[in-house]
Amino acid sequence: MIKFLNEYSYTIWLGLLKDYVFGIEWLDKNFSSVLKLKPLILIAGCPGSGKTVLACTISYANALRGRKVLYITFHESKEKLFKIMSDLGMNLNDVEVRGTFNFVKIPIPLSIDNLSDTIFKLISKYSPEVVVFDTINPIMTITKDESVRRVLLQNFFYGLSESINGMTILVAESIGEDINLSNIEFIADVVFILKQRISKGLISRSLMIKKIRGVEVSVAEIPFRICSNLGIVLYPPPILEEVSPEYEELELPCEVLKKVVGHIHKSMYIYITYPPDARLPHATIIPLSVALHNNLKVLVISYIYPPDVVKAQLLRALGLIELKGKEVEELIDKYIVVKSINPTAYSLDELYIHELRLVDSLEDVDVVVIHDVGLVARLSNASEYLSKLYNQLNYLRLKRVLTVRLGSYVSDELYRLNALLSSTVLRFEPVFRDGKFVGVQAYVWRRGTTPYIITSEELSRCLEEIAENLRRKCFSR
Ligand SMILES: Nc1ncnc2c1ncn2[C@@H]1O[C@H](COP(=O)(O)OP(=O)(O)OP(=O)(O)O)[C@@H](O)[C@H]1O
Ligand SMILES: [Mg+2]
Repeated sequence: MIKFLNEYSYTIWLGLLKDYVFGIEWLDKNFSSVLKLKPLILIAGCPGSGKTVLACTISYANALRGRKVLYITFHESKEKLFKIMSDLGMNLNDVEVRGTFNFVKIPIPLSIDNLSDTIFKLISKYSPEVVVFDTINPIMTITKDESVRRVLLQNFFYGLSESINGMTILVAESIGEDINLSNIEFIADVVFILKQRISKGLISRSLMIKKIRGVEVSVAEIPFRICSNLGIVLYPPPILEEVSPEYEELELPCEVLKKVVGHIHKSMYIYITYPPDARLPHATIIPLSVALHNNLKVLVISYIYPPDVVKAQLLRALGLIELKGKEVEELIDKYIVVKSINPTAYSLDELYIHELRLVDSLEDVDVVVIHDVGLVARLSNASEYLSKLYNQLNYLRLKRVLTVRLGSYVSDELYRLNALLSSTVLRFEPVFRDGKFVGVQAYVWRRGTTPYIITSEELSRCLEEIAENLRRKCFSR
């Protein structure tokens, strides 16, 4: 994703760090200062949310750097754990052989004293710098008396953390309110809550940073995925100071657009809309001609048509301005890649992440055209849609991609939401005189200018110019 970890440079960078690491680039970049405290880290979440994967990620990254890790569990099987982590790119066998990773399975304790004995013997045997408890649930239920439990637990974990010259990671499974984590949260320096939601039969995960002592946390919840060979992959929203407002300037393909809009930049977001019952070809021709005019590589993501149909529609739209033939097809093949996604198969998080991964997987994408955005908007609630879209657009901006989102005008509310985030709006409308269709006009607004209505005559002239320019491009090669 955005600066997705270039493994080599990240490994070098890790090597230069003097302190402990999380082993996840974004967490290390933003929160490494808390690791100097040799913190007590609490990782909580429901079953299957990724707690063990996160605990192993932190353990493995530190073990690789020569820190001694003691991984204590009451019920994990070593064989299974090593196999699952190996599929996720963590070779625990390797760090075990090097002597920096010790997996120990202990019996469920009958009392805190009994547990203290076992743990402190292990600690004096291994002298670990990282101790992991996966999970602490059997300890949490040792006594039934809540007030006794609070004192015992706090004393035990606090004493444990103090006795290790390093960090402590506590993994807790929280199902509803059955265990009270607030006692542990209170003494923890870092609290990560892993959340998982099932939406339309698919899992979407997020990491909630509930607390990091001594660090200002501005991003509370970060979507993530667990991927083969990569392990945990976070999708943090970009920090806006990193987003440069001005990138490469692009020329518009006709005089009236130059007059009204001036020029545009890569990294802008253009929103194009039209009535759902009058899907006007202008909405396709104009963004397509901007890309071809500036020799830009375009990724078209369609939510409603398969790639072949989209290509046929592009050719049909160009045919309407008399651009036809093998040369035109070659031009389309050279600059346009079409991918189709069924948005109903994804949660909104997953959908946006999937799209960003598509952009990342293709070389040199300059423009992303998404169609029909009205469909996704109708499948989501407005505030979720707005916040997810905002993050996605910022990602694309950071990648210096021009984003064009095309869609039917489904409601005033959605039109306004999309317009709110856009740098330029183009709203096409059919024009009727005496009940007869006479052409298409466009309401145009670019951030920093006054709105303008391009008349049907001006728009026809614009299409003629586009046709002339593209004809020259196709046939003079
Ligand atoms: N190779 C893999 N590729 C993709 N996802 C994987 C892979 N291995 C594991 N996962 C995902 O990781 C999830 C399990 O993560 P993990 O074992 O860390 O959860 P947990 O919170 O510790 O669960 P539990 O409460 O059962 O201990 C699985 O639900 C699975 O979806
Ligand atoms: Mg687990």
